Amino acid sequence: MEKNRNTFKGSIGFVLAAAGSAVGLGNIWRFPYLASKDGGGIFVFVYLILAVTFGFALLTAEVAIGRKTKQGPLTAYSKLKSGWKPLGVLSCLVPLIIMPYYCVIGGWVLKYLLVFITGEGSLAAADSYFSSFITAQWEPILLFMIFLFAVSLIVFNGVNKGIEATSKIIMPVLLILVIAISIFSLTLKHSAINSETNEVITRTGLQGLKIYLVPNFDGMTIGKFLTVVVDAMGQLFYSLSIAMGIMVAYGSYVHDDANIVKSVNQIEIFDSAVAVLAGIMIIPAVVVFMGEENMAAGPSLMFVILPKVFAAMGKVGVIIGIMFFALVLFAAITSAVSVMEAIVSSIIDQFHLSRPKAVLIEAGIALIAGIFVCLGYNKLYFELKLPNGSVAQILDIMDYISNNFMMPIVAILTCVLVGWVIKTESITDEITKNGEKFGRKWLFNIMIKYVAPVLLFVLFLQSVGILRLK
Ligand code: PHE
Repeated sequence: MEKNRNTFKGSIGFVLAAAGSAVGLGNIWRFPYLASKDGGGIFVFVYLILAVTFGFALLTAEVAIGRKTKQGPLTAYSKLKSGWKPLGVLSCLVPLIIMPYYCVIGGWVLKYLLVFITGEGSLAAADSYFSSFITAQWEPILLFMIFLFAVSLIVFNGVNKGIEATSKIIMPVLLILVIAISIFSLTLKHSAINSETNEVITRTGLQGLKIYLVPNFDGMTIGKFLTVVVDAMGQLFYSLSIAMGIMVAYGSYVHDDANIVKSVNQIEIFDSAVAVLAGIMIIPAVVVFMGEENMAAGPSLMFVILPKVFAAMGKVGVIIGIMFFALVLFAAITSAVSVMEAIVSSIIDQFHLSRPKAVLIEAGIALIAGIFVCLGYNKLYFELKLPNGSVAQILDIMDYISNNFMMPIVAILTCVLVGWVIKTESITDEITKNGEKFGRKWLFNIMIKYVAPVLLFVLFLQSVGILRLK
């Protein structure tokens, strides 16, 4: 198998594919929401610091593990150290759980893009639009299937003709769209009458930008600051697609001559830039038309609040709506592709099956599980209270188990394996094997051995509800 293993043709192909994985729904809807909740600039600042330290170390480790072992996540860890198969299984289970529900959300995004393209975007501004769509019986399933099919087709076409080629087209377009909408967002201005005081209030995009980027220390306590740090860390971790087996899989296709440190830097810059720009795109628009208090979490921001914002923009809102949902769709597709590839590469390496067979197996699993996720909003509807207090349906349960529970465990075990069992040298040697400079090697060592496992443990305690920061 090893001899004819695929490799990304160029390092730019790898960087764009990995950035494609990293830039996803998390950047676009979760980052702006967290920033507005966690004191604007404070959150952004903490996030960026963590990105170049904590995020950098974990991402570098995973890519290097992939390249060193030339294996998908399921078999990579046991190749590094015998007896570590359970970590491989765990880090393959994560994408297996994520894939179906991520594709269901991909279907939702597709729906909104189609609604805006057909000129019916204003309908989506109605309060009940989103909930009546996801509770409908057939439409969400159909759109989910279309999305899953598109993703499977890309992965089916392989690392070069599928993943690398698609990322090279999609990622530059995505970047242009985010920049264009961000600029537009900053030029916004809108006046509304306050129904209580009858005063006319005019808000501008630049005021929104200020709310987003100027640190707000009002009521900041140590406890609150810790929440900001943990939020930023959780977000970073998810945003860089760490602990999902993905970066190990993509790393296994990285050429032996490639400079890993340089590529990781570029991936992080791309991912952080899109996250920060997403805030510039969304926060001013929401502030101008709806007021900051509407920066709500989760699906409602993207599928309920933003359609209202686009409707309030008038005619131009139709175009912005199309651009926005196209951008989100692109982001979701490249992320879903990477999740699927993590599983497909694992199946290929473990069972020595051909790529088409592996794709078929994973697509089949995702199809069945995804249908259950869709039915979770109608036929199989229930409400379950999660340890973190939120009320969950099937999708949220899968999201909770993979993100809050399994991912921190995978990451902690990766740190233990690299930092303490096989020792960091075996990974840093891989990174510098062509004589590459690794200026932050000392930082890498400290992070992997001490800082990251501790931070991750705190994150774990918080996300399973044992630790409650105020
Ligand atoms: N990194 C993606 C984001 O920020 C999330 C993601 C990627 C989730 C791949 C699952 C799989 O949105």
